Amino acid sequence: MACQCGNGGCGTDYGTPARVSEKLVTLEIDGMEISVPEGTSLMRAAAEAGVQIPKLCATDSLEPFGSCRLCLVEVEGRRGYPASCTTLVDSGMKVRTQTDKLADIRRGVMELYISDHPLDCLTCAANGNCELQDMAGAVGLREVRYGQEGKNHFKSAKDTSNPYFTYDPAKCIVCNRCVRACEEIQGTFALTIDSRGFDSRVSPGQNESFFDSECVSCGACVQACPTATLMENSVIRHGQPDHRVITTCAYCGVGCSFVAEMKGDQVVNMVPDKNGHANHGHSCVKGRFAWGYASHPDRIVKPMIREKITDPWKEVSWDEAIQYAAGRLKGIQAKYGKGAIGGIVSSRCTNEEDYLVQKLVRAAFGNNNVDTCARVCHSPTGYGLKQTLGESAGTQTFDSVMESDVIVVIGANPTDGHPVFGSQLKRRLREGAKLIVVDPRAIDLVKSPHVRADYHLKLRPGTNVAVANAMAHVIVTENLVDEAFVASRCEAQDFMEWKSYVAEDGNSPEALEAVTGVPAADLRAAARLFATSGNGAIYYGLGVTEHSQGSTMVMAIANLAMVTGNIGRLGVGVNPLRGQNNVQGSCDMGAFPHELPGYRHVADDSVRGLFEEAWGVALDNEPGLRINNMFEAALDGSYKGIYCQGEDIVQSDPNTQHVIAAMEQMECVVVQDLFLNETAKYAHVFLPGASFLEKDGTFTNAERRISRVRKVKEPLGGYGDWEATMMLSKAMGYEMHYDHPAQIMDEIARLTPTFQGVSFEKLEELGSIQWPCNEQAPEGTPIMHIDEFVRGKGKFVVTRYVATDEKVNQRFPLILTTGRILSQYNVGAQTRRTSNSSWHPEDILEIHPHDAEERGIQDGDWVGIQSRAGETVLHAKVSSRMQPGVVYTTFHHPFSGANVITTDNSDWATNCPEYKVTAVQVMKVTQPSEWQKRYRQFSEEQQELLQQRETAKA
Ligand code: SF4
Ligand code: SF4
Ligand code: SF4
Ligand code: FES
Repeated sequence: MACQCGNGGCGTDYGTPARVSEKLVTLEIDGMEISVPEGTSLMRAAAEAGVQIPKLCATDSLEPFGSCRLCLVEVEGRRGYPASCTTLVDSGMKVRTQTDKLADIRRGVMELYISDHPLDCLTCAANGNCELQDMAGAVGLREVRYGQEGKNHFKSAKDTSNPYFTYDPAKCIVCNRCVRACEEIQGTFALTIDSRGFDSRVSPGQNESFFDSECVSCGACVQACPTATLMENSVIRHGQPDHRVITTCAYCGVGCSFVAEMKGDQVVNMVPDKNGHANHGHSCVKGRFAWGYASHPDRIVKPMIREKITDPWKEVSWDEAIQYAAGRLKGIQAKYGKGAIGGIVSSRCTNEEDYLVQKLVRAAFGNNNVDTCARVCHSPTGYGLKQTLGESAGTQTFDSVMESDVIVVIGANPTDGHPVFGSQLKRRLREGAKLIVVDPRAIDLVKSPHVRADYHLKLRPGTNVAVANAMAHVIVTENLVDEAFVASRCEAQDFMEWKSYVAEDGNSPEALEAVTGVPAADLRAAARLFATSGNGAIYYGLGVTEHSQGSTMVMAIANLAMVTGNIGRLGVGVNPLRGQNNVQGSCDMGAFPHELPGYRHVADDSVRGLFEEAWGVALDNEPGLRINNMFEAALDGSYKGIYCQGEDIVQSDPNTQHVIAAMEQMECVVVQDLFLNETAKYAHVFLPGASFLEKDGTFTNAERRISRVRKVKEPLGGYGDWEATMMLSKAMGYEMHYDHPAQIMDEIARLTPTFQGVSFEKLEELGSIQWPCNEQAPEGTPIMHIDEFVRGKGKFVVTRYVATDEKVNQRFPLILTTGRILSQYNVGAQTRRTSNSSWHPEDILEIHPHDAEERGIQDGDWVGIQSRAGETVLHAKVSSRMQPGVVYTTFHHPFSGANVITTDNSDWATNCPEYKVTAVQVMKVTQPSEWQKRYRQFSEEQQELLQQRETAKA
């Protein structure tokens, strides 16, 4: 249902999209002179002059369609009554929008609509927020001469198959807005108008239900619908909101802006914000609909403690829990040394919260044992881009893709992992940009409605660097280098070394074909396309970073961008698609054992001195432990306590059995979270976390865009996460003093050059800011490295391909690679507690038909997947999206134990785990694995211990 509030970020609906043109056209509308860009519709020109022309089929997020005939106007010197939404402005035009004749026509149109529309306004969920109702009022409709007795659709059956919205055909005015939204905005093409004339109705797919169709539940059609035909179930249930708050989605790194529509402290609806700089009014199923987890009964809202993990939990006051945690942590330090404890920062928490946790570890724990889940996803991005370009972040805005001529997507699946950006990318592809996909699997982008990849380089997992080197070989040996760019912008000596390396015969596509599995001719053609098609942009994801050569591949990508001159302007660049909402932010905030906020090394005396002075405490100049080192140290007995805020390391880190063994060795595990997650099952102290709806702060998305997260309700546990960190810090002996997260951001800005100009005040003013934001760039930096690289000259780094140690052999002949799916998010703790699970109730194993046949496996069979690290059992899906020899699964359900199979192998530079390459054997089985049985039993015991707390309380 379209937002008509006129505030809260939705704003005026101008009827048709804005046009960009240097040429202005001047015309007269109702006697007012107005100048607008050429190509603007009369409807939009009028709206910009403050004149609202009645409309139904038009809305400014969609191209005009001209079907309802409500927006007719009179144009002096022209015959008839043109539709203002489809008629473009012309110089000197004189337009009249309100005449008696027009009023008659509009009333006649409305009468026809209303004669086939149930007059149940008082009980309709859209009452007060319905464009049909508004238009009836606007045209002065007082009677319906045709009555309602004729043929009508009043008894049409509702489609309630989608868990989040209802389709009520009785209320459809066949304006086509939903169909166009699905095509133009979302790019899924799931809807059509079925039949003709009176019988025409909206239909998902071939007369399927919404649930069974291709619909991905992005909500764009619901948003576009001017009536109650497509309506959110939450609005049907709760009614219209009474106030609105703009905030930011807490799921993926796109960082969509949303208007939280509220009734008291009840969220009624989450509407994508038209003014959101990252999403421009679009959303995906997660941010739009999957927010119910925040009020799920599984939420734990009272602090709990226990002596041993086999004890029942005991509910205690915050003070008791904090004192208990601090007492145990201090005891560990007294017994085992200062470095025996540490903290984990979450990429789901705000910048302010992340900053405080690293400050707690450094100032109160007195060491640098702080790490973030970016360790297991994008740490190679930080390393690789810093080495080559000088800054650990992507170079562009999302909107930049609209200027790209050729787009390379490597190891990323934007339509599932970053759906709103995926839709924008598809829009650009439909406009004609070329596409090269480098992925072992045929992701949706390879072939979807009106989108075809020009090249799909279906490489063997683990051979990214070889593919990048082969592309570079073609560019260098076929004289496709942007010589002027390289000469003026890059280090000459490094370039020469790199050039002679990639030019070696051993790096040719032909020489590497046997290694990569990519036909040399395709690779050559793709490299030529990238180097010669104008603006070339590279987008990549975890399929690049989560490898033993993750950092090498990031540098190889930067090399490719530099050698083709594709850096420093719109339409180009190196664009890491960050997984979680605040991965960029958690890294920026210094949640690394070797770096203080702003990516500055702890050993740098001047930087450390700055923090020491501000924080009034001496800081350790030695890097601390990375997450994986913490596990190793726990197993060797030197690391005994951990504070884990908002991160589920037991489920998300590789080699689960190894992680669990380490957790069992710890004497104090403090978990702050919403739910009793997998890590909390090994905890001694549980502190209730606040959901994003209960937080004030900021998230930084994949474009370096800092956006406000605004509290729409008080934390269910009584305190924000930042307040809990402050309390723990005080109990550890180091007091922090903040009254609001805005003050934390002020401190970050004082101490971090790239954040120098950032404040909550400025965020209010600008909506969002892309760092660096400082004196040189007071409103932020949408595109980086424009005239020179952050490091001065760009540095080419020789990227030798080194095969992973994880080899297939007779015992483990297949390669398992992992990824994510649209409806679920990361470890699934949030999405599994929403109706999103109707689409993905379990993780499954995708296997190529040949591999399946060889093993007698059919769709739906239970299959055991065995690696050198462990074994698990999943249902199989036979799929030709896979290539022979490669199997694939997701990791959203703890029982799947995807990380029981993944190994300890990791990126050479950052220890980012090699999730994407695990040698496995797959065979038909009839029961869960031993690990799964143990997991089930342990989980049931832990749930029982949780229940006992509740029983004791009652
Ligand atoms: S919810 Fe999205 S994908 Fe589904 S029909 Fe509507 S616009 Fe299309
Ligand atoms: S469902 Fe809504 S948007 Fe779609 S045609 Fe009907 S009234 Fe228009
Ligand atoms: S694309 Fe990402 S940020 Fe946007 S709504 Fe979906 S999950 Fe949220
Ligand atoms: S709004 Fe112009 S024809 Fe419908």
